[in-house]
Amino acid sequence: MAVAGLRLMYHGLTQPGVMCKLTHHGADVGVSAVKTAVTRTWALQFPKRLNSTQAYNSQVKENYAKEAENKINKTNKINEVPQLQSIDHFRSSKAQKQGKDNGAYILPHPIWSEEELNSVEITHRVPENFTDKAAFYSVKILRNSFDIFSGFNWRKRSEKQWLRRIIFLETVAGVPGMMAAMVRHLNSLRRMQRDHGWIHTLLEEAENERMHLMTALQIRKPGLAFRGCVLLAQGVFVNVFFVSYLISPYFCHRFVGYLEEEAVKTYTKCLQDIDSGSLPWKNSPAPPIAKDYWQLPPDAMMRDVILAIRADEAHHRVVNHTLGSLKEDEPNPYGPGR
Ligand SMILES: [Fe+2]
Ligand SMILES: [Fe+2]
Repeated sequence: MAVAGLRLMYHGLTQPGVMCKLTHHGADVGVSAVKTAVTRTWALQFPKRLNSTQAYNSQVKENYAKEAENKINKTNKINEVPQLQSIDHFRSSKAQKQGKDNGAYILPHPIWSEEELNSVEITHRVPENFTDKAAFYSVKILRNSFDIFSGFNWRKRSEKQWLRRIIFLETVAGVPGMMAAMVRHLNSLRRMQRDHGWIHTLLEEAENERMHLMTALQIRKPGLAFRGCVLLAQGVFVNVFFVSYLISPYFCHRFVGYLEEEAVKTYTKCLQDIDSGSLPWKNSPAPPIAKDYWQLPPDAMMRDVILAIRADEAHHRVVNHTLGSLKEDEPNPYGPGR
């Protein structure tokens, strides 16, 4: 009996997939029946298993080849976009001077058609609940206070004032995307869960805002007092937004959505000032960084740059209102560069 038991255990262990119950009575008969069944099963299954493994392996290889090809195509496409060799701002860096860096590290981003550039409209999403209203009125209070403080509506808006405003606001506008991406990145690491594709869109937004800043910096370099104000504003805003995003990502995306509604208004006003002649950018050539980034024609003017920036802001508006309407674990509908 003990021998029969051991033989059965041996076959049970060495031939997985076979389940058998053996009674005390007729142990040897049971063992031999099991052996036969096992042999038949393996004889029948082995070619099938071999075939399916081979098919599986070749499928996997094919998928890897396709994926690698797609990645190469995507990388080539991304590398085609930025040609930033002519940027003074980047050339001043040590690495650039040594010829080790051409500054061309840009995430994918939308390139707007003529029709898209000219069809941007001022829109408003009506607040639907308490959080929406809190976000909307926070933006309104900030905007109105800043307008009063800077004399935006009651003083003549010169080129210097426009650049001061654009540079300051873009240093702030680049913060939310980066902080939101950081929080989601850390959440993904800490909770050991996937991100659902939000991080790349948020990082793209942060970089896009930073490129608005880099463009304006090609025309005007801020002074020491201005840099002090930027330092102060960043110190406060980074921390407030970080804590707010931990508490309510919904509020934060809605807040940025309403902020972008204001940005579209501001750049629309900028275009009106260009067209009326009070801002002399109609015949000013676009900085090389802007031509490279937005793939503008060689004869592009500053007006074309402002049109592209306004289209970016309108895009952030819709992206953030969309993300604000999604649950945190819902997939981001925006692919890279879209
Ligand atoms: Fe911006
Ligand atoms: Fe923006």
